[in-house]
Amino acid sequence: MQTIVLRGRGEFTEWRDAARRLMMANVEPQAIDWRIEDERGRLTGLDEADGQRALSGIGGPADALLPATAAAIHVPPAFIELAESVICHSEPARFALLYRLLWRIRTERNLLQIVSDADVIAARRLEKSVRRDSHKMKAFVRFKEVASTDPTGRRRSFFAWFEPDHYIVARIAPFFRRRFFDMDWVIATPKGSAAWDGDALTVTDEPAVKPELTDVTDDLWRIYYANIFNPARLKVKAMTAEMPKKYWKNLPEAELIPDLIANAEAKVIEMAERAASQPPAFHARVQERVAADLADPDAPPAGTLEALKFEARRCTLCDLHCKATQTVFGEGSEQAGVMFVGEQPGDQEDLAGRPFVGPAGRVFDQVLNEVGIDREGLYVTNAVKHFKYEPRGKKRIHQKPNQSEIQQCRWWLKQEVDLVQPKLVVAMGATAYFALTDQKDRLEDVRGRPFGMTEGRKLFVTVHPSYLLRIPDAARKAQEMDRFTREMTMVRELATALQ
Ligand code: URA
Repeated sequence: MQTIVLRGRGEFTEWRDAARRLMMANVEPQAIDWRIEDERGRLTGLDEADGQRALSGIGGPADALLPATAAAIHVPPAFIELAESVICHSEPARFALLYRLLWRIRTERNLLQIVSDADVIAARRLEKSVRRDSHKMKAFVRFKEVASTDPTGRRRSFFAWFEPDHYIVARIAPFFRRRFFDMDWVIATPKGSAAWDGDALTVTDEPAVKPELTDVTDDLWRIYYANIFNPARLKVKAMTAEMPKKYWKNLPEAELIPDLIANAEAKVIEMAERAASQPPAFHARVQERVAADLADPDAPPAGTLEALKFEARRCTLCDLHCKATQTVFGEGSEQAGVMFVGEQPGDQEDLAGRPFVGPAGRVFDQVLNEVGIDREGLYVTNAVKHFKYEPRGKKRIHQKPNQSEIQQCRWWLKQEVDLVQPKLVVAMGATAYFALTDQKDRLEDVRGRPFGMTEGRKLFVTVHPSYLLRIPDAARKAQEMDRFTREMTMVRELATALQ
């Protein structure tokens, strides 16, 4: 019997060199006893004396019979690919299995294509398990930031602890180098470690010891996980298959899982209740409203702002009513001296049925407050009375109304102006300006000063508050906010002068 001793830590060339020598010496598979030297230099499965003997002449007593070097053996590339993967498995029988396949491939060149062959099945099973382990390592390595090891201090340093089933560190390390090229990192495991310092990737097969580390990125993982967790899609079995429990101890987000699962049912009920308040299809809504309005004995008297609002509930002048929840009409004092006109209701306004109550409304309110304008005394409306949006996943993304939609809706705006009779109309943004004047000037050319309108009314143009919300650069945002505030101060002064 020929004893072959390998370190067995996923290094393909180690097995390949031994296999070549054995093949050259024509050693049959059943005449080989493959052994693994454990981390402490002992042989698994041998008693002390045998172990010493085998180690002293690595390869065992018959090793001298083998050629010292071996010529390459030609095998199909598919075998090399399979063997490189199988060798990473921690199953001790992998060396014998691969040698048996190698031995047989000499005479059965298509062996790997025989999917019912017991050796092929066994090898494919090991290959699959290595593939799965590799996939899990790519998915579940969680880096923690540690003190930078870069002498220039420019590169940040990270550490991750992972516990793979197999010897896959060397195999997967290039993936992490590609993915995290611009930071220094170490991934330590009980089956070897990999380190990248921006220049060199170092891999060792020595077992590492888990250190105690936590950092703020743990919280980020938890926040991220809680946000992507969808209780309505929860399938505990599928979830634990995808994220097996054995990985949980090294995943900061895993501590949330028991609670998320326990509360999933209640969350789904809560979501369903929210979904139940979704509006019915548009035609049903419109018909319902028309019928209800015509039969309503308390309908407001014709010619009033209330009557106009009542009538606008069933507006179908353009297609926007089809997807919107409801008409969002203007609101405020019928005696208002100042009328503010925005673009169109947003997501929150569409649900609330009131203008400027969402994020843009909050900016609007804040600046009104700052400059000392009381919203109660104003009339606030929009150029377009229905929310125009594009559904994207669960979100409704705002879309600008087009020219025809603005023109159709002008009918309502004109009546609002005629009924309220404001002395000053403030157009916030280009849509409001176009709706009020039919002009398409650049906002920059017309903002910040009053223009004359019919009936001695004044028009003042400024930006839309949501424009301010969209400015990404903080300094510019602050600048634009100042400018908007100054223009709103001018509005207050104009309003006082026009009283
Ligand atoms: N934007 C608008 O133009 N009007 C609103 O009511 C809300 C956001």
